[in-house]
Amino acid sequence: MKGKLIVIEGLDGSGKNTQATALYESLKNDGKNVIKVSFPDYSSQSAALINMYLSGQFGEDPDCVNPYAATAFYAVDRYASFQTKWKAHYESGGIVIADRYTTSNAIHQCSKLPEDQWDSYLRWLFEFEYRYIAIPEPDKVIYLRVDPDVSQKLLDKRYDNDAAKKDIHERSTDYLMRSRKAADYCADLLKWTIVECTAAGSMRSKEDIASEVMAAIRKSVD
Ligand SMILES: Nc1ncnc2c1ncn2[C@@H]1O[C@H](COP(=O)(O)OP(=O)(O)OP(=O)(O)O)[C@@H](O)[C@H]1O
Ligand SMILES: [Mg+2]
Repeated sequence: MKGKLIVIEGLDGSGKNTQATALYESLKNDGKNVIKVSFPDYSSQSAALINMYLSGQFGEDPDCVNPYAATAFYAVDRYASFQTKWKAHYESGGIVIADRYTTSNAIHQCSKLPEDQWDSYLRWLFEFEYRYIAIPEPDKVIYLRVDPDVSQKLLDKRYDNDAAKKDIHERSTDYLMRSRKAADYCADLLKWTIVECTAAGSMRSKEDIASEVMAAIRKSVD
């Protein structure tokens, strides 16, 4: 009896953790059998290559690293998490809320590739993760769509305006703009549920966004 996998996706600082946590709490309060996982799984050794990558050990610019290699770093971290932390729960019918997933590879690796290679990359990615590595496919993907200038402000606040605390993705505005384009493309192609999180140049309230997310996933978990 397969469970349900709900993915919360979005660019850096879009509120994924905030919304994944809110959704987890709501479902828990409703008496659902739910757990929350987040990727990368920094608590695990399986994130070692990701840590090397994000701290710049393969190069300071995200473009230094071959997107197919970067894909593998993130994919094996998910494999390890699935095998050791949530396979049993999922396979006995439980609900899993994931803060990021394979969908983050879709966005962030596409943004390094020329647009005419996006479709072939995405075909390869989903075969690699869902078929060959064989981690579960999401039942629902929620894309938290935030204007890039608004998410930059949120990140600046989180890091107390100390740019040195940002990782190599967060530091690059150009990368953020390309990621936004890639995310919009993937959302459209892959039929993700888009939740617009900005209104009139600022973030909607957390509660407001949370109730829209809840409404969007309701059918998948009932
Ligand atoms: N709706 C909101 N309104 C105002 N601030 C928010 C809202 N949602 C999240 N935040 C704040 O924005 C920051 C980023 O949120 P969060 O960590 O949930 O995002 P994230 O998408 O998980 O970020 P990252 O991609 O860096 O992991 C946090 O400081 C959080 O408290
Ligand atoms: Mg987060």
